[in-house]
Formats: sequence, structure tokens, C-alpha cells
Amino acid sequence: MGSPGPTHNFAAGPATMPPEVLERARASLVDWRGLGHSLLEAPFTCDEFRALMDTTRNQIRTALALPDHYHILFFQGGASAQFSLIPLNLLPPHATAGYVETGHWSARAIEEGQRYGPALVVASSRDTGFDRIPPVSQWTLTEKIRYCHITPNETANGVQFQSDPDCGSIPLVADMTSEFLSRPIDFQHYGMIYAGTQKNLGPTGLVIAIIRDDLLGNARPETPTVFNYQLQLEQHNRINTPLMFAIYLTHLMLDWLETQGGVKAVHIRNRSQSQSVYRVIDEDDFYRCPAISEHRSIMNVCFGIKDAHLTQRFLAEASASGLANLAGHSHSGGLRASLYNAQPDLAVTALTSFMDDFRRRYG
Ligand SMILES: Cc1ncc(COP(=O)(O)O)c(C=O)c1O
Repeated sequence: MGSPGPTHNFAAGPATMPPEVLERARASLVDWRGLGHSLLEAPFTCDEFRALMDTTRNQIRTALALPDHYHILFFQGGASAQFSLIPLNLLPPHATAGYVETGHWSARAIEEGQRYGPALVVASSRDTGFDRIPPVSQWTLTEKIRYCHITPNETANGVQFQSDPDCGSIPLVADMTSEFLSRPIDFQHYGMIYAGTQKNLGPTGLVIAIIRDDLLGNARPETPTVFNYQLQLEQHNRINTPLMFAIYLTHLMLDWLETQGGVKAVHIRNRSQSQSVYRVIDEDDFYRCPAISEHRSIMNVCFGIKDAHLTQRFLAEASASGLANLAGHSHSGGLRASLYNAQPDLAVTALTSFMDDFRRRYG
């Protein structure tokens, strides 16, 4: 039997990438920039790679309209490593960090963060099953808090901040892993943002960290040198071998983002795609969405079927129809459609048609 057609990939990350980016990446494996060998075989000290790092940083700066007093660094270890590296770099011993707990990933950040000093949960939606974002007016912010950590998009729970919160003089530190470059950012509230690139930018393992000037230079002595923000900045992010191919893929994705009209344009598309899936969910009570409507994520649409017994059937039939990776996060269960920047409209139409049809047959 032949394949039912192209597979649409709704994975939460690593996620779908545009075919044109993958084609360019393939070409780089044969001969990169006329070097006569692939990028994988190039020394990271070569002029071409130095130029690539500069270009990629400039692309990020331009895409986000990032002010000059923020620095861009590339790290290994994924976003999870930053849960520890942030307090090591930004939090003096015994000082207090604030955390807003809105779902699985912010809980993980708190769990790690509290190993390095008092981690004060200033607001939490745990009691309502992480179905919403607590309003900033209800956060218990006190003067002793050095920074307040948030997770603007909760990948596993499907809730998302609808605007950049204002905590006055307390800088926000934000894990933007699953929404980075999907929307414009109002930087005035942020001391640092960081993101693993395996959602909107593609490659795994790489973290982009954007840090405001005045927060640098406070790392604890025990901070590993390769993860010391200030030292990496001083040494042009080349204390150790950078994730060269992942940085190259990020550069290609940023090229692609530009062809799509930049973050403002993809934000409109992301909103519209997620709305069309939520519309199907809300039509009656066959499907359910755990997140309250005001705080739903436009990146990760988490939903379920009222008759939970149908979940496995939904996944099996979806997969047979070329709709892959729709299972919810292992901690949340249910279903999840991730609609990152590179998700084509065609995939979303295929999904909503399938959902309608499934409801007709089993509702
Ligand atoms: C919001 C968020 N933070 C952190 C992580 C962990 O990222 P990594 O696997 O790169 O450590 C993820 C992964 O899905 C995530 O969605």
C-alpha cells in the first residue's frame, strides 16, 4: 500500500522545519561556502564561521528590534541547563529569586532554581490545574526579589501570557523556548530571555540567551567558565567549541523568517492557525481544552476528547491520515497540536478537517 500523502508534523519540538531550509542545510554538508568540505568539518576558528556567528546574532537583533544594551550568547545544554545557570550567573548567594508557576516547565525551573537559593513562588495556577496565567496584579512581588522568572508559553499545558508583564523595577527572566521569535517582544520589562531553539528555529541543544548589560558580571565563583555569561561575552562566545551546525541551522531559519515577513507577520499567521483549531474544539463538547479561553497558547494547542477512551483511536487514525505527533506531553496526557512558525497552513487545514470528520464518526 502506498503512503497516504505528505506527513504533517505537529511535534512539540524538535519540530517541523521548512523544506527549503532543509535543502540548504543538505547542500552545506557537501561544500560549505566554497571551503571544499562541509560545515561539519570546518574549524570553529575559521573566518567563515566567525562571520556566521556575527550574522546570526545580527539577524536575531534585527528580527526582534533588540536594543543595543542586550547581548546575545549561544550556549549548549538546552534550556534546562539555564534553570541552574541563571541563578549561578544572576543571583548572589542567599538572594531571592521570584518565580511564576504556570505549568510543567516553570515548575521544572523552580525545582532546579531552589538548589541555588530561596526560590519564592510569587504566583501559581497549580490549584486550577495550570489552566491560566495569574494576573501580575496578584503576584506577591517584594523588594528582596532580584529577578522574576516566567515561562511565557507553557509547552505542555497550552497556556500563554497574552502580553509582556510589567514588574516595575524587578527584571523579568523569561524562558521563551516555545514562543521565541513567534511574536514581537517589549524588551523594557526583561532582564534576560532565553530559548532552546528546537521549536521555532529547529535544531536541538542550542540555547540563545539575551541578557541586559547591567545584569552581567555577577556570576558566582563556582560557575563553570563555559557557562559564565560575562566571560563568554568577553571572549566572543568562543571559550569552547560552539554548536556550529545548530547555529548554522538557526541562521537558515532566520533567513526563512525574513522571507515570511518577520515576527509580526508570523505572529498573525500563528494566531490565525491556532484560532482555527480552537474553533473546532469549541464547537460542542466532543473535544475539550483545559486552558481557559483568554490564556490559550497560539503555539501549543492542548486538548482532549470528552470520552478519553477515544484518544488512542484518534492518534492512530490521525497518524494513518498523515498527521503525526499529536500526543500530549507525557505529564499532561491528551492531545496537542504544536503550531510553530514553520507549520504550513495546509497542515492546519488537514488537522481541522480530520478533527471534524473524527467527531462526525464518533460523536
Ligand atoms: C518552555 C520549555 N522550557 C524548557 C524546555 C526544555 O528544553 P531542553 O530540552 O532544551 O532542555 C522545554 C522543552 O520542551 C520547554 O518547552
